[in-house]
Amino acid sequence: MKLTLKIWRQKNASDKGGFVTYPIDGISTDMSFLEMMDVLNEELAVKGDDPVHFDHDCREGICGMCSLYINGHPHGPKQTTTCQLHMRSFSDGDTITIEPWRAAAFPVVKDLVVDRGAFDRIIQAGGYVSVNTGGVPDANEIPIPKRIADEAFDSATCIGCGACVAACKNASAMLFTSAKISQLAMLPQGQVERMSRAEKMVAQMDAEGFGACTNTGACEAECPKGISLTNIARMNREYFSASVKSENV
Ligand code: SF4
Ligand code: FES
Repeated sequence: MKLTLKIWRQKNASDKGGFVTYPIDGISTDMSFLEMMDVLNEELAVKGDDPVHFDHDCREGICGMCSLYINGHPHGPKQTTTCQLHMRSFSDGDTITIEPWRAAAFPVVKDLVVDRGAFDRIIQAGGYVSVNTGGVPDANEIPIPKRIADEAFDSATCIGCGACVAACKNASAMLFTSAKISQLAMLPQGQVERMSRAEKMVAQMDAEGFGACTNTGACEAECPKGISLTNIARMNREYFSASVKSENV
């Protein structure tokens, strides 16, 4: 395949940045999107140019590191992670526009790399689970209805990639935060800190400068793990009941 790449280049957080166009040839339809980027970077390195910086780690759809905004969609045209997107999703001769996540709470570090430390701080604000859950056999002894276990597991599949924030016109982090609150709020082990966890994580989410949810649903539509909007409804219930019972009121 022969492609034209329009890639956002930005030296650092204070640089204005802009698009640079790169023609590229000989791309196999079986390559992943990141392998295509590797080919470009090898060509740039041979020429003595600065390679395009982008985030990645597992390249298996697990870690949530890859974060490219491709042709107007976080992670590109398929509901999958950038590392699991393959070049057969594009056609020979295509022009592909590649940008970083755009949100004030995710400042650009360089080129396509953004600082998603705000997500780490939201999780940290939730604190530890104080219950000693024991080993796997102990956990398996705790009877949990299948529906609850499945829903908690679905929420726990959030990989913290930030595509929900990038997709949202308000740069809201409510899908991410609600998935993290839900996965513990539904299970017996998560009950002890249930109220304080919801309060602290929502407070940190607001402090990081993420926007509010206006029920547009772009987050759910673009999430590579299919995290449901029902998590946001659950988070709102958790937060409301925590606020009513809170010692801080
Ligand atoms: S909710 Fe989906 S889009 Fe948002 S961080 Fe989790 S996996 Fe990524
Ligand atoms: S590199 Fe880990 S999810 Fe894409």
